[in-house]
Parts: sequence; structure tokens; C-alpha cells
Amino acid sequence: MTIPQRPEADPARRAAVLTGLGTFLPPRAVSNEELSEHLDTSDEWIRTRTGIRRRYWADPGTATGDLAVEAGARALKSAGVTGADAVVLATTTPDHPCPATAPWVAARLELGPVAAYDVAAVCAGFVYALASATGLILSGVAERVLVIGAETYSGILDPTDRNTAVIFGDGAGAVVLEAGRADAPGALLGFDLGSDGSQADLIAVPGGGSRQRSGGNPPDPATSWFTMQGKKVFARAVAAMGGSSAAVLERVGWPRESVDRLVGHQANVRILHAVADRLGIDRERAVVNLDRVGNTSAASIPLALADAVADGGLRTGERVLLTAFGGGLAWGSAALVWPDVQPC
Ligand code: ACO
Repeated sequence: MTIPQRPEADPARRAAVLTGLGTFLPPRAVSNEELSEHLDTSDEWIRTRTGIRRRYWADPGTATGDLAVEAGARALKSAGVTGADAVVLATTTPDHPCPATAPWVAARLELGPVAAYDVAAVCAGFVYALASATGLILSGVAERVLVIGAETYSGILDPTDRNTAVIFGDGAGAVVLEAGRADAPGALLGFDLGSDGSQADLIAVPGGGSRQRSGGNPPDPATSWFTMQGKKVFARAVAAMGGSSAAVLERVGWPRESVDRLVGHQANVRILHAVADRLGIDRERAVVNLDRVGNTSAASIPLALADAVADGGLRTGERVLLTAFGGGLAWGSAALVWPDVQPC
């Protein structure tokens, strides 16, 4: 689905504009070497097959909502504001199956009785949340929305499964979107979203939901771990992010060669390069920070944006293409011109 937005048609039209960016990582860094001590893996395999060198895992007692509060507070500070009308939280690892985590985060941030809900689109969650928040602003429901991606995958990883335990990290990233004009730097200019539920089993936590309960089966702890058929997912990730990126570029009228920064979901450096190749975008323009944080699922894109700004790899006025893919299967892309925003 491509959400119709034609910025060139009316540059003064109402738009959702990115005005703040904040991130938070838990303090405990976990190196490839540390994982190799108890798993049949190696730093060399992890680095060459994924690009990951380390990830951060939350300490016991720290949940997704805690990371979201920290990142949300920093995004508000980055935007120079203290309030928002809504909180949209993308996560695969909510604090509870019920209720959603976003209202708790809004309360902890003392935002008052604002709209607050979770978005479940796994690694595409942040782009889905951005699109949802943009809809709140374009419809006039909200003037300012705090959009957060936060995860604690460490809690759903089977520590004995080398296929997944080496890949995922915990963390949170957030942006502030405010009502503004489509010609303002930071305006979200267009989106493309898609899904393929026929491949739902490729990335899944099989147990713990109504599907399992409907079978009359007792809860089985073994089915509560995260599973991924990585090889099958790889090709689909490249195709979906490539196709979705092309669709959003066409929507906003940007030639592919005009993209300054490709900020893709940080799953695997080989995937990021393959998407860049497919689009004809120089690999040097693909932002990579998964070496430092691993795959943080819904938190991955804001964490990559913040690192790119801090490294000088993303500058005010540059054309940015966001693209993400994950369980569902679900994918999405968005385009914006990077505003004068300093991450906190
Ligand atoms: N250490 C050492 N060996 C390993 C490890 C490990 N950690 N993991 C797997 N291997 C082995 C396998 O057992 C296999 O051995 P075999 O050849 O003897 O059978 C071999 O390495 C190759 O395994 P593959 O799965 O084919 O490895 P691949 O090169 O495909 O890399 C990976 C696996 C990194 C998961 C890759 O497939 C990938 O990145 N897939 C896409 C992930 C993705 O984009 N997910 C979507 C977003 S995430 C989300 O939505 C939550």
C-alpha cells in the first residue's frame, strides 16, 4: 500500500515534521567473544555473516517500557518540548500481552491523558509507527506525536540457539513529529507499507497467543522463544525493501541517484548492501551501525539515524530514504529531508 502524498503538488500543505530524536541503550555491552564462550559460534562467523561486533542486553529488571521512557524523554529534549498529544510505540517485546506499553510510557513521561497505543510490525514497526503518527497529524487528531521504537529481545532469545542469539540486541529510539508544512526540512514526504502473512512462520514466537490456546494446548515455555528461518528471510528482505524503497521514491518524485542516505533496518550488512545495489545507490550511502548495536528490531532505524548524525554521516538538508523489513512478514519505507536536529 502506498499512502498517496504528493509534496510537489502543494508545498504548503499540512505535514508531519520530524523535530526531535532521542536514543537509549542499556549499559551492558555483549561482545561476539562473550557469546562464543557458551555457544558454538565465533567472532569471525558473526562478523563476516552479519557485520555485528557487539550488541547491548538489558539487565534483569529492565523492561521495554523502561528503555522507551528514556529514549522518549531524550527525543522530547532534542525537540525542545515537554509534551505531546500522542505516543505511538513500536515493539515486538511489550511489557505485557495486555495492556499496551505506550500508555504506561506516556504516564511515566507525565504527558497527561494523551492517546497512546502500541504498533506490532516487528522489525518494520518503526516505519509503521511513523506512518500511523503521520496519519494522526494529517487528520488533525494530534499536533505533536512521540514515536518510539523499543525492544528487549534478550528476553525472548533462546540462549542455546546460535541462529538468533548472536543477532539481536536491546535498545530504544524515538522521534518527535509535529504538525508543519510539507516544504519544511524533516517533513515525512511519503510512505509505502506492505505485508505477506502467508510467510508468517518465517519469523515468529510460536506460543503464548490465542492460536496456541485455541488448540487446547497448555502453555509450553519452549514455544515462547523467538525463531527465525534466516536464509529464507534474507532474499525476501532484499526484495521487499528494494521494491518498497523504489515505490516510495517514485511517490515523492526523487530519482534514485538523488538519495543521500539509505537508512535501512539494521539486520545484516550484506542485506543493506544488496538493497543499495538493487536500487543503484552507492553502498557508501547506506548507513550501517549494526556493528555496534546488532539488530534492535523496532528500535533499529532511530538508533541508526542518531549514530549517523553523531558520526557526521547524516547532515542537515540531505535526502533520506528509510526502509525496513521484518516478521509478519511486513515492510515499509519513508522519505524525508533531514532537518537541523541534534540527537539527545
Ligand atoms: N555461528 C556459527 N555458525 C552458524 C551460526 C552462528 N551463530 N548460525 C548459523 N550458523 C551455521 C548454520 O548452522 C549453517 O551451517 P551448515 O551450513 O553446516 O548447515 C551455516 O552457518 C550457514 O547458515 P545460514 O543460516 O545459511 O547462514 P546465513 O549466511 O544465511 O546467515 C543470517 C544467517 C545471518 C540469519 C542471515 O540469513 C540473515 O541475516 N537473514 C535475514 C535476517 C533478517 O533480515 N530478518 C528480518 C528482520 S529480523 C525481525 O523481523 C525480527
